[in-house]
Amino acid sequence: MNKIGILGGTFDPVHKTHIKMALTAKEYLGLDKVLLMPSKKPPHKFDAGIAPEEDRLNMLKASLENIDGLEASDYELKRDGFTYTADTLSALKKELPDTDIYFLIGEDSLMYIDEWYKPDAIFANARIAAFARGTKSEHKLNEKISSIRNVFPAADIVTVPFEADDVSSSSFRELIKAGDLKKASEIIPKEALDYISKHGLYSGSADKLSNQEQILRLTEMVKGILKPSRFEHSLGVSYTAASLAMRYGADVYKARVAGILHDCAKYLSDDEQIAFAKEKGIELTEAEIANPALIHAKTGAYFAKVKYEIEDPEIINAIRYHTTGKEDMTLLEKIIFCADYMEPNRKSIPGLDSIRNIIFKNLDKAALMICDNTLNYLDSLGIVPDEQTKKTRDYLKEHLDDKADV
Ligand SMILES: [Fe+2]
Ligand SMILES: [Fe+2]
Repeated sequence: MNKIGILGGTFDPVHKTHIKMALTAKEYLGLDKVLLMPSKKPPHKFDAGIAPEEDRLNMLKASLENIDGLEASDYELKRDGFTYTADTLSALKKELPDTDIYFLIGEDSLMYIDEWYKPDAIFANARIAAFARGTKSEHKLNEKISSIRNVFPAADIVTVPFEADDVSSSSFRELIKAGDLKKASEIIPKEALDYISKHGLYSGSADKLSNQEQILRLTEMVKGILKPSRFEHSLGVSYTAASLAMRYGADVYKARVAGILHDCAKYLSDDEQIAFAKEKGIELTEAEIANPALIHAKTGAYFAKVKYEIEDPEIINAIRYHTTGKEDMTLLEKIIFCADYMEPNRKSIPGLDSIRNIIFKNLDKAALMICDNTLNYLDSLGIVPDEQTKKTRDYLKEHLDDKADV
């Protein structure tokens, strides 16, 4: 029986790492060939700095021309409308009933594949081969695989050892912006780089995007990395923050950006948060080490700057202080702090209704109620709160202006 691998992705543009992944899987799994299949661009991505489908496919074709067993495939691009992985794999299996299809995915994607659209159809039509980064996460990965198998007995999942390089499209864009083509050639195959130069792709930097394009770009990026429920929460915070910004005269665009990005580091586990902070020289307090769930505010601010290319310090600080607040918060910081607590997806917690009721009348009072609620909640669980939350509460209490009620 023939064995083929499918490696999907935006390929915007193809990286050397993609090629290395495909070759590694081909050899490790004994595949006849691997199809690198660019995904369609949802219509709303159109102007968000993503290269056109034809260019992404052409770059891939040129880069794979002289590599045995790797092929660029326009299968997904040719399909009508927006397509889900489950539909693509079902259609492909129908066309190739005598072929074993291996769907190649990263370790991060495997953690959520059971939340994708029609996971049973995915498992029924393909074997899943997940690239495993090594011993550090092996335990977590194996646990996830057995939990998937419990729910979907048909799921056939194998792992492929793969040491990933730290490559991202944004690092590539940085290099192009800086005019460092030599460094870019270490990341991007030569053929793709020639295509980029010839067609003038990626010359517009993120900061030249309109506000609307920028929001779409960030939303797509965050969607790709957060689990679906966390992504929904981030959208909720973004829209709630926008409403509060309208009410209180803050910058609506900044509120939306800070809202969508505020939990962008939340996909890292507790151990990873600590390790990442240490590696990047981000100082942690004792409370943060004892309760690593708080750290994502600091790592998130770091990502916002470095990965999402946000330069505005107001937005960065709103992300930085969204978990604990701080004394004398700016209007935007206060808005994100509150929106995070009361956005529409939040499950009902005691006091939430009164906070939602008061927040459009007196923002400070709502912020104070949120601090009190958080402190009471942590107390009931026997968790020592971050000192900063107490300081935020005390400051708000001292400066509360009841007359601000409208
Ligand atoms: Fe958060
Ligand atoms: Fe949040």
